[in-house]
Amino acid sequence: MLLNDRVCVITGAASARGIGKATAQLFAKHGAQVAILDLDAGQAEAAAREIGPGHIGLACNVTDRAACTVAADEIVARFGRIDVLVNNAGITQPLKIMEIGPENYDAVTDVNLRGTLYMSQAVIPTMRGHGSGAIVCMSSVSAQRGGGIFGGPHYSAAKGGVLGLAKAMARELGPDGVRVNSVTPGLIQTDITGGKLTPELKDEIAKGIPLGRLGVADDVANACLFLASDLSTYITGAVIDVNGGMLIH
Ligand SMILES: NC(=O)c1ccc[n+]([C@@H]2O[C@H](COP(=O)([O-])OP(=O)(O)OC[C@H]3O[C@@H](n4cnc5c(N)ncnc54)[C@H](O)[C@@H]3O)[C@@H](O)[C@H]2O)c1
Repeated sequence: MLLNDRVCVITGAASARGIGKATAQLFAKHGAQVAILDLDAGQAEAAAREIGPGHIGLACNVTDRAACTVAADEIVARFGRIDVLVNNAGITQPLKIMEIGPENYDAVTDVNLRGTLYMSQAVIPTMRGHGSGAIVCMSSVSAQRGGGIFGGPHYSAAKGGVLGLAKAMARELGPDGVRVNSVTPGLIQTDITGGKLTPELKDEIAKGIPLGRLGVADDVANACLFLASDLSTYITGAVIDVNGGMLIH
């Protein structure tokens, strides 16, 4: 039990086959009290019920700063504190550079980057208040190699921004006992690809991955558990690749 009685907030965690939900499940298994945040209240509540009793699901659009604060306040009112935040909510769009319109840029950078900023700002006061905390930010291999397979350049830019933001937060919040780290997943089989991942395409992609397979949500959840728990008490500002060797650098 690596997270006994820790209060853990995970954004974008209602998606059935998603990284956030897998992380919520794993954290609950390790003794955490989990708050699942997502766009739809009903789906967030259902996901919380599914992982067991005592967890909560709340509607929170991470692009809305006030909504992030309201959610954080509600979690503190309910559980008394917040120990861990996983900034997992994200969207992608498979566009080429000249296809990116203002609305595409806004949508992708807003959820991935602005959402990471706003949700972090919402939990930092309570973490500072008790002098400890762990924030995990979900970036992507796409930030490191200039595009994954499904994300366009605006997604790479947003996820690159997440890495910079996380490192800057790590530097600023270290003296307060708050650690901030990032995870850079490779290609993980979830619904974010919108059903475009055909068996043929999977086989083709797997050929270029040293570990010979695409990732699953639990692969990323395990890295989040490490960064959220006391196994990583002297680690901050780090980036952990979870990509099967797709990018070795
Ligand atoms: N699947 C991959 O291959 C992969 C690779 C690298 C990084 N990632 C990142 O991992 C994270 C999780 O992705 P996933 O693959 O599990 O996708 P997913 O689509 O299954 O889950 C994303 C969740 O975010 C929620 N969400 C979207 N906009 C939101 C908003 N404004 N506020 C709150 N919640 C919102 C969605 O409702 C959904 O539940 C994302 O940040 C994604 O960019 C995924």
